[in-house]
Amino acid sequence: MTSQGPIVIVLAAGEGKRMRSATPKVLHAIAGRTLIGHVLEAAAAVDPAHVVVVVGHGRDHVLAHLDEVAPWVDTVVQDQQLGTGHAVRIALAALATAHALEASPIVVLSGDTPLLTGRTVRKLVDAQVSSGGAATVLTAVLSDPAGYGRVVRDGSGAVEVIVEDRDATADIRAISEINAGMYAFDPIALAPALERLTTANDQGEEYLTDVVGLLRAEGRPVTGLIVDDAHEILGVNDRGQLADAAAIMRDRINARWMRDGVSMLDPASTWIDVDVDLAPDVTLLPQTSLLGPTTIASGARIGPGTTLTSCEVGADASVIHTWAELAVIDAGASVGPFTYLRPGARLGAGARAGAFVEMKNSSLGAGAKVPHLSYVGDAEVGPGTNIGAATIFVNYDGQSKHRTVIGRDARIGSDTMLVAPVNVGDGAYTAAGSVITDDVPAGAMAVGRARQRNIPGWVQRKRPGSESARAADQAHDQPSTNEESA
Ligand code: UD1
Ligand code: CA
Repeated sequence: MTSQGPIVIVLAAGEGKRMRSATPKVLHAIAGRTLIGHVLEAAAAVDPAHVVVVVGHGRDHVLAHLDEVAPWVDTVVQDQQLGTGHAVRIALAALATAHALEASPIVVLSGDTPLLTGRTVRKLVDAQVSSGGAATVLTAVLSDPAGYGRVVRDGSGAVEVIVEDRDATADIRAISEINAGMYAFDPIALAPALERLTTANDQGEEYLTDVVGLLRAEGRPVTGLIVDDAHEILGVNDRGQLADAAAIMRDRINARWMRDGVSMLDPASTWIDVDVDLAPDVTLLPQTSLLGPTTIASGARIGPGTTLTSCEVGADASVIHTWAELAVIDAGASVGPFTYLRPGARLGAGARAGAFVEMKNSSLGAGAKVPHLSYVGDAEVGPGTNIGAATIFVNYDGQSKHRTVIGRDARIGSDTMLVAPVNVGDGAYTAAGSVITDDVPAGAMAVGRARQRNIPGWVQRKRPGSESARAADQAHDQPSTNEESA
């Protein structure tokens, strides 16, 4: 923020009734950022001197959220929603007591228009500065303008007045240019005009839009700036519009990554949050979601059917049908299909976590492999070590979690239970089916299971007449398959 920059007021006190939600409307999120977070991001493009958010409904939640994501904003509470004009009036009053108001434009935005871009806010401010008039109103021409305030222009093209849909005559309703609800005002002209607002309208509210007519009546010109892409002013009032906005945002984000060299087989089913970072030559397969601050290095292939939240994926890694959160997958590692990586899972370069493997708070050294059907919890596995199918890291004694440490180039037999805390040395082996409760020294073979014994003829004696007994009888009459093929 700069001291010469514009002042931005964001209106976010409304209830958002049509969302039918316990969450305040502006805290609903698309692409990993709240609606108000998107608006604040757009506002940041004009390097504002101050940003004031007007809060009301659900204020505790909204204030807590702003404190977390935008601690630099000022906030003002509007107890009763007496209208957009009233909201701006109390925001200005709060600003005037907190800061000297600089002579740069005052921008008013709505907290529920997540598709607004910084570029458009900049154009709005530039238009206001270069016109030197009383205000610039952002407008859009819509095929269905119903519900919006209509922009009435005079013969010279200047804005004369804005009339709310519910206060409009049929002639005015026929106008297709609408008020987007975003403005840049001359700071000197705005405050006195707000003082003159009345509530003489259908809703009995102080309409910010009436400021336009008042300024104009004083002979101050008001400019209408038509937005390039009408999507930008789409307000979110219900779940349908939330989904529409999310889809438009997804398409925008995906188009940007494809321009930057990312391949997507099915952009419509690829969802990428705003904080994700992708390198050129990443390939994303269908049904993939990259959420939070996930980063993917060049050459990696992600998906299909994969959701990565706050993960780091190295170059040329492959991640198939996987659900992962706060996991680190180094270069050339391979994950999946059907793998669950929980926070703290870490695969070294070229390591592998295969089908039906769950990992938590555990690291695999470079080239280490857990190919099938395992749980790896609270463990450190050295480079080059292979974990046999169905091995379980038994990390929980019913009260506390314990660690397992395995050295490098060890071979853990299939179906080993590693009962933590336990250490297995470099190059050690465990026999399949072992329950390992004691440390295994480097190079040792640990056998932790009962020795097998065969009881001859048990089936014929205990299960006479059964299919198994008949099969056993026949086997004794014939040479065994082994002997035959030998
Ligand atoms: C407003 C405009 C309308 C424009 C439309 C664009 C007015 C009178 N009308 O209508 O011309 O076409 O936006 O979407 O301004 N808010 C407060 N406090 C209040 C009232 C509203 O903070 O007392 C906030 C709302 O939470 C919302 C924004 O201001 O974020 C706009 O209010 P809303 O009631 O949605 O205005 P519209 O009726 O849509
Ligand atoms: Ca309204």
